[in-house]
Amino acid sequence: MTYLVTGGAGFIGANFVYHMLAAHPTDRIVCVDKLTYAGNLSTLEEALKNPNFRFVKADICDREAITKLFGEERPEVVVNFAAESHVDRSIENPGVFLETNILGTAVMMDVSRIFGVERFHQVSTDEVYGDLPLDRPDLFFTEETPIHTSSPYSSSKASADLLAMAYHRTYSLPVTISRCSNNYGPYQFPEKLIPLMIANALADKPLPVYGEGLNVRDWLYVEDHCKAIDLILQKGRVGEVYNIGGHNEMKNIDIVKLICKALDKPESLITHVTDRKGHDMRYAIDPAKIHGELGWLPETMFADGIQETIQWYLNNRKWWEEIISGEYQNYYQRMYGNR
Ligand code: NAD
Ligand code: TYD
Repeated sequence: MTYLVTGGAGFIGANFVYHMLAAHPTDRIVCVDKLTYAGNLSTLEEALKNPNFRFVKADICDREAITKLFGEERPEVVVNFAAESHVDRSIENPGVFLETNILGTAVMMDVSRIFGVERFHQVSTDEVYGDLPLDRPDLFFTEETPIHTSSPYSSSKASADLLAMAYHRTYSLPVTISRCSNNYGPYQFPEKLIPLMIANALADKPLPVYGEGLNVRDWLYVEDHCKAIDLILQKGRVGEVYNIGGHNEMKNIDIVKLICKALDKPESLITHVTDRKGHDMRYAIDPAKIHGELGWLPETMFADGIQETIQWYLNNRKWWEEIISGEYQNYYQRMYGNR
């Protein structure tokens, strides 16, 4: 079996590559990634030593390159992680989100249709459902919750989901979609909340909390997300959407305080900065469908996963210090300089 994994040099894609190489040691994993600012080949260093793994640098919008790759590899399964993934960047510059997240997904599905695949899995997000109010803790996102997006990022992901369902209905492309809550764990780019706060705290820099920090996210350890996708590939029903989340809601401010405590840094580093435009208040997944149908449950408790993650960033300073030493500094200045 050959799996074509797009975006495998990014955070979740790389964790998925490692999961698949370990869980399916006789299968072939081909990774296609454009290596944008968020993609890092050094993340795949160990995978590159495995004869069952191949890396190809290409843009998922590049129809010719993707067609050539399908001709060479004839993948049975495509897992589409490749995306522009950061909400703040989508607010700054939506165009590239529309190109990669919508048009790139369309190219991947067109070529999958032409060559024929057993499964096209679209990795989506709970952000397509918009947000929930803080004063209604009884409400959760189910697969039936209407799409109601807030940011250019979530709108581009929702567009890709609609297109994927249309390709399933119109062309019988064997599509599945997963919508996961916020992930944390090794190899997350330090522009996202948890690694950014760890990196800043270690450098005794201010910890920029948007607004009051009362926004709630539903955090899942990345390995649990990877296992859920694997399960959907093996046992999920074609044409279905599966929500993935582990009922682990936390306020941003509590996460930042927890990181301060774990690193023995003073909470006085916390700086409240101007809120994100259109900032979603609360995300909360109801995972009843994937649990009931496929038997999936998260395995890593947040208390353990966050300690492991912090330890990983302490042990792998070279990985993230290199990332934040270059172009990222310009981004940081633009995003936080006058905030
Ligand atoms: P990431 O930004 O860390 O990685 C994205 C990867 O895609 C990078 O390696 C990048 O080089 C690659 N890429 C970007 N544009 C490309 C293009 N045009 N062609 C080929 N490769 C391209 O993102 P992530 O956090 O790992 O997210 C992966 C997927 O999971 C995304 O589709 C995202 O929407 C979804 N998701 C993320 C989360 C989360 O908490 N991070 C939660 C739910 C869903
Ligand atoms: P983020 O990691 O960007 O994920 P998402 O926006 O996709 O949920 O942000 C998580 C939460 O943390 C979100 O409510 C915004 C907030 N946040 C901050 O308060 N400060 C920061 O510097 C960042 C990056 C995020």
